[in-house]
Amino acid sequence: MTNTDLRDFLRTRRSIRRFKPDPIPDSVIRDILHTATFAPSAHNRQPWRFIVMINPVTKSHFADLMADEFQRDLEKDNLPPEEIQKRLTRSRERITGAPIVILLCVDMTEMDTYPDTRRKKAEYIIATQSAANAGMQLLLAAHAEGLGGVWVCSPVFAQETVQSALNISKTWEPQAMFLLGYPVEIPVVRERKSVDEISIFLD
Ligand SMILES: Cc1cc2nc3c(=O)[nH]c(=O)nc-3n(C[C@H](O)[C@H](O)[C@H](O)COP(=O)(O)O)c2cc1C
Repeated sequence: MTNTDLRDFLRTRRSIRRFKPDPIPDSVIRDILHTATFAPSAHNRQPWRFIVMINPVTKSHFADLMADEFQRDLEKDNLPPEEIQKRLTRSRERITGAPIVILLCVDMTEMDTYPDTRRKKAEYIIATQSAANAGMQLLLAAHAEGLGGVWVCSPVFAQETVQSALNISKTWEPQAMFLLGYPVEIPVVRERKSVDEISIFLD
């Protein structure tokens, strides 16, 4: 692969939200997870954890619980009932329509501990940054396999619900989920801010 190929590869990853029903071989899923673990992490503690959901019954149960929590939040926002139902249906369908759902968690148990709030907060931030690196690497690894995926942030808004729904350790804090599958279509590139808009080059 040339530099240009690699640059094009990085620039052609898109968030994919509609998938073919085709199953993804287990070996491919394991390979993607393995590649994700090559992401850099603070102190190389690798605080990322993954929960893989393939079984339609598990995904459907998970989708229902996420929708319940989402509904409570939307009701607090006083949205009209039909708008709430529309969003809940879309949320459920997106989860159940993805051949694979991978939940990304962060586990603080092997990170450094500090007595003061400032450093505790900083350590938590670097752990979640590390987990996010693995998430990004996972999406790129999926892209390399011809799969599409999207990062979905809802689990971070429903951490306890997700932990009890999936019966996972309280030390695994949900951060995101990835919906993965073979893409139905590749969306057009969403506009990017220019380098000049987002950067300052100091003398
Ligand atoms: C932290 C994070 C949270 C995101 N959450 C969602 C989400 O909840 N739902 C969704 O459809 N896309 C979500 N996305 C995907 C973004 O919408 C997408 O990356 C952005 O629009 C740029 O499009 P592209 O990925 O195709 O380049 C998220 C992306 C990131 C990095």
